[in-house]
Amino acid sequence: MTLAVPKGRILKVLVPLLRKAGISAECLLVDDRRLVRESDDGTIRYLLLKPDDVPTYVEYGSADLGVVGRDTLLERNYELYQPVDLRVGLCRMVVAAPFGAIIPAVPRVATKYPRIAQKYFAARGVQAEVIFVQGSVELAPVTGLSDLIVDLVETGLTFRENGLEEREIICPISSLLVANRSLFKLHHERIAPIVEGLRLAAEASASD
Ligand code: PRP
Repeated sequence: MTLAVPKGRILKVLVPLLRKAGISAECLLVDDRRLVRESDDGTIRYLLLKPDDVPTYVEYGSADLGVVGRDTLLERNYELYQPVDLRVGLCRMVVAAPFGAIIPAVPRVATKYPRIAQKYFAARGVQAEVIFVQGSVELAPVTGLSDLIVDLVETGLTFRENGLEEREIICPISSLLVANRSLFKLHHERIAPIVEGLRLAAEASASD
């Protein structure tokens, strides 16, 4: 059983959830450079990937299951099952602007999520010019590159420290468990208990 997980801060909340589901995951917290890790009980092989690459590995069957942010799934089209909302990595996708700024009728919008931004403004009849940037999106309006940004906000600290304010909420975001469609059917008896365990653990954590 191969589970693709995102490297980075999400691991700290994911490991306790896996543990709660009875899935051995301590190997994910070991501070070394191995990109493939075997669980202590030998039942799971973990792939440590850049977050945006997780759905690709699952879609092509290099992993049976994966953990992916809803933002990534909304931005691109993947052929994946999405059986469980893990309810970790909670944040929201928002439109933000410099404090008090007056926004032109055809705003320039900087974002890592051009598809989500395009769709959002089009649905509101706003003819936005969407500019793709890779990260540190908050810098765009500060330097005049854009009028607005579409980005994720968790605590709001990055916005505050860069003089931005949230204007509109686009949607809530969390991490989801995704599964390869064919492998899910083919190895159902092996994969289903893991999916079910994670569903119960996520529900239990949400009501803690
Ligand atoms: C994310 C996001 C915001 C920030 C929000 O960026 O894009 O910039 O976190 O968190 P906060 O509301 O708690 O301050 P990330 O750290 O992933 O880096 P990036 O800017 O390079 O995308």
